[in-house]
Amino acid sequence: MSTEITKEATIGVLGAGTMGNGIAQVAAGAGHRVILLDANAAVLDKARAIHHQVLDKLVAKGKLTPEAAKANLSRIHYAANLDAFAPCKLVIEAIVEDLDVKRKVFAEIERWVAADAVIATNTSSLSVTSIAAACKQAERVLGVHFFNPAPLMPLVEIIPALQTESTVVQATRQLIDGWGKATVLVRDTPGFIVNRVARPFYGESIRILEERWHGVPEGPAGMATIDWAMKEFGGFRMGPFELMDMIGNDINYTVTETVWKQTYHDPRYRPSLTQKRVVEAGRFGKKTGRGYYDYTNEAVMPEPVKDEALGKKIVDRVVAMLINEAVDALHMGIANRDDLETAMTKGVNYPKGLLRWCDELGADKVLNVLRGLRETYEEDRYRPSVLLKQMAASGQKFHA
Ligand code: NAI
Repeated sequence: MSTEITKEATIGVLGAGTMGNGIAQVAAGAGHRVILLDANAAVLDKARAIHHQVLDKLVAKGKLTPEAAKANLSRIHYAANLDAFAPCKLVIEAIVEDLDVKRKVFAEIERWVAADAVIATNTSSLSVTSIAAACKQAERVLGVHFFNPAPLMPLVEIIPALQTESTVVQATRQLIDGWGKATVLVRDTPGFIVNRVARPFYGESIRILEERWHGVPEGPAGMATIDWAMKEFGGFRMGPFELMDMIGNDINYTVTETVWKQTYHDPRYRPSLTQKRVVEAGRFGKKTGRGYYDYTNEAVMPEPVKDEALGKKIVDRVVAMLINEAVDALHMGIANRDDLETAMTKGVNYPKGLLRWCDELGADKVLNVLRGLRETYEEDRYRPSVLLKQMAASGQKFHA
């Protein structure tokens, strides 16, 4: 397949919701003509209104001239039917996260686009290979996973399906790099890099809370203590409970459950009943006024217990689990070293790459924390990666 995708190429975006809308803004901002398509006319109207608002703000801030804003707006075309994708060189799908629906839509899209057009999915958790298999030309299908909000978040995970031709991967990666994004290459595996490696940030923190480990207080004071520790001693911008409330507990729970199911119930990713109950109560987070914390006006935020020794223990445990995930992802060939580091620093703003963090702490120290947990709990959840054991034994570092 000849697959150069130039600046002049028309880009199609299917689904004008949160992600599709953001992706259309990114492509139009990079100078492309964009066809933004949604089955729901009200969603398209909303997307159009949001584009106007965003550009007005940029003009007001002096970041864009009124002429540039006008040109940008004129590049986005709104459509309701798939035939509008006929001139597109690349179509990015961002509709509902449902495998059957996506497979049907991919087969449909293929009927309307040119034989050399690339078709990409923004799925966060489904098998790209299975979506590609719904197409006659599966070799032109791949995953391009943007993060929310797409115009602001720099990371894009590029996920070839088993069937994807390497020229398609190269051309798409080059194009999206040209949009000012940081792309990383990921094997088609559950959660890709970020949604897999970050799991313990949430899961292990909830576990510490559930157990009231080393005297962590019950309930909100415990959450505040863990959040405080992770920021104070881990250098994270947000604590796990604050972050889950911002992402939405409904979304965060679903991602965990999906990764767990797709890894044949690997105990490392087992979801937490505590989080499930929070979701069942409709406490989705900031968007509903209540999540782990209460955000209603009268509510007083809980005070953490600022015990330095406890705080450091919390960070040691969660960071050891995170490092183990990153090391294991490297071991399993899910991504290379530099892409793993880029993904966690640019996709979820970690203070440093987890492999560099391992070097700094020492693989032997990280291994000791995991072995301690494994011995205490006798759970497979804490099994160290083979590569971590090798690094600890050899004294080698990931970054020479
Ligand atoms: P959304 O619900 O905001 O938007 C989906 C849009 O697709 C809706 O406007 C709906 O009308 C439209 N749609 C559904 N079926 C359609 C069809 N057959 N033809 C045309 N339009 C159709 O969803 P959101 O959050 O934008 O997610 C979209 C995709 O991006 C999902 O696969 C999701 O997993 C993924 N994603 C979401 C992220 C997030 O934080 N929201 C982050 C990264 C990926």
